[in-house]
Amino acid sequence: MQNTTRIIKKLNNLWNRSQFPSQNPIQISKIDKLIIFLICIVISIISSYEILLVQPLEGSDFLSWGINFSEVLFTCGFLILVSRKENPNINSRQILLIISLLLFVQMIKNIFGSGFSPLSIIIPPALIISQGMGTITALAWVSIASLSWPESLTNINSYLLLITLICACFVSVLGGRIRSRAQLLQLSIFVPIGALISQWLLIGNEEYSFLDNQEIFTSNGKIFSDSLLLAIIMLITILFIPIFESVFGLLTKARLLELADKEKPLIRRLSIEAPGTFEHTLLICGLAEEATRIIGGDIDLIKTGSLYHDVGKLHAPNWFIENQDGGVNPHDEIDDPLKSAEVLQAHVDEGLKFARKNRLPKPIANFIPEHQGTLKMGYFLNKAEEKKLNFNESDFRYKGPIPQSKETAILMLADGCEAALRAMDINASDSEAIETISKIFYSRQVDGQLNDSDLSKGEIFLIKKSFLNVWKRIRHRRIQYPTTINNTFS
Ligand SMILES: [Fe+2]
Ligand SMILES: [Fe+2]
Repeated sequence: MQNTTRIIKKLNNLWNRSQFPSQNPIQISKIDKLIIFLICIVISIISSYEILLVQPLEGSDFLSWGINFSEVLFTCGFLILVSRKENPNINSRQILLIISLLLFVQMIKNIFGSGFSPLSIIIPPALIISQGMGTITALAWVSIASLSWPESLTNINSYLLLITLICACFVSVLGGRIRSRAQLLQLSIFVPIGALISQWLLIGNEEYSFLDNQEIFTSNGKIFSDSLLLAIIMLITILFIPIFESVFGLLTKARLLELADKEKPLIRRLSIEAPGTFEHTLLICGLAEEATRIIGGDIDLIKTGSLYHDVGKLHAPNWFIENQDGGVNPHDEIDDPLKSAEVLQAHVDEGLKFARKNRLPKPIANFIPEHQGTLKMGYFLNKAEEKKLNFNESDFRYKGPIPQSKETAILMLADGCEAALRAMDINASDSEAIETISKIFYSRQVDGQLNDSDLSKGEIFLIKKSFLNVWKRIRHRRIQYPTTINNTFS
């Protein structure tokens, strides 16, 4: 009996670990929900109305229409659910994009019938969705778009459907990983070539002629025109992806890498006006990147997020110890712990303002408040206690929220460890370094800062190890700078 319980527990753990992070999806307004629901209804009607066009109508026709209608409606709901699970930050505009692309494809199927190649109508949207919303969402979209066909098109070549499904899945998987526009261009050449070869092998080249092809846009055996059309539409889609990024706020890998460019005006400003913060940022990027790699997180996301996490310090660089260069500390001059706490909180608030002004995508902007979570500003809290001021503990805590993803949690941990590791003696042993790291991790854990991040104990252990490895790598060339014992100013 005990064995059975243990096996059930293990299976349950395995199931939980195979699920997406349990981050709460953002709320969608009622009006947006209504619009999305109406579009789903329209998709279901378009996909099923042909069943009611047969003469004479029988009771069983209504039944099969009802089943078909509910099936499509249910799959639309499933698609939205999958997209929200994979992208907890997905907004209504992005859901509208996924659903509208499905509506568009179903309309094309109805209007053009078998005159339009399934390759050209399913693969390009799959590329947009995989780039902007990830592989799982794209695969869910592809399976619905490939399997739901109007009644009149049920005679469509099954080999062509199979090739479309395989190519679209291939694009969905690669599209979610591709990191540059150049690779996208390669994909838009190789997928049509692959489709051409597979069609040639599976469907054959009957009725096929390069020159005598009147209906170049039809799919009945016109293999070459199908693949050429697919290549053209994919290239046009790639050209339009930056527009989709800005209109729908999509965060593609290419966009992430563009934002991580250190020549971006905001990052250049940080390096000139707050050089200490810039150095701190670069070191944190190294720590966070290594840790994210070891737990299999999103490296491009954390690299870019780390770069922007402290841009808010640009509002008053000299109030932060890393930029003081041994000069006057304005906090000592005002000698008011409550005011100092406000300045620290301002680096989060101002950071969010910078993010809005520079149109940073939400997943990147999230690093700004979440890297501080609701941490205590211990140094100033102690000072306020020494001065016996009248205050609430919340006055000396950041406003949060606490990290909502593994990546923002790693950044919080890296942010806490950076100054401590940099300040460590050059001859310190590995065990001393890991002890310092563990203390910082423990303080964040007992404070509940990692509660929503979905980091497992094993992952936390791996993150500690990776921080130690980075420290070992950099200690021989590190430069010490003055820091407070409890890292109050970061
Ligand atoms: Fe910060
Ligand atoms: Fe920081």
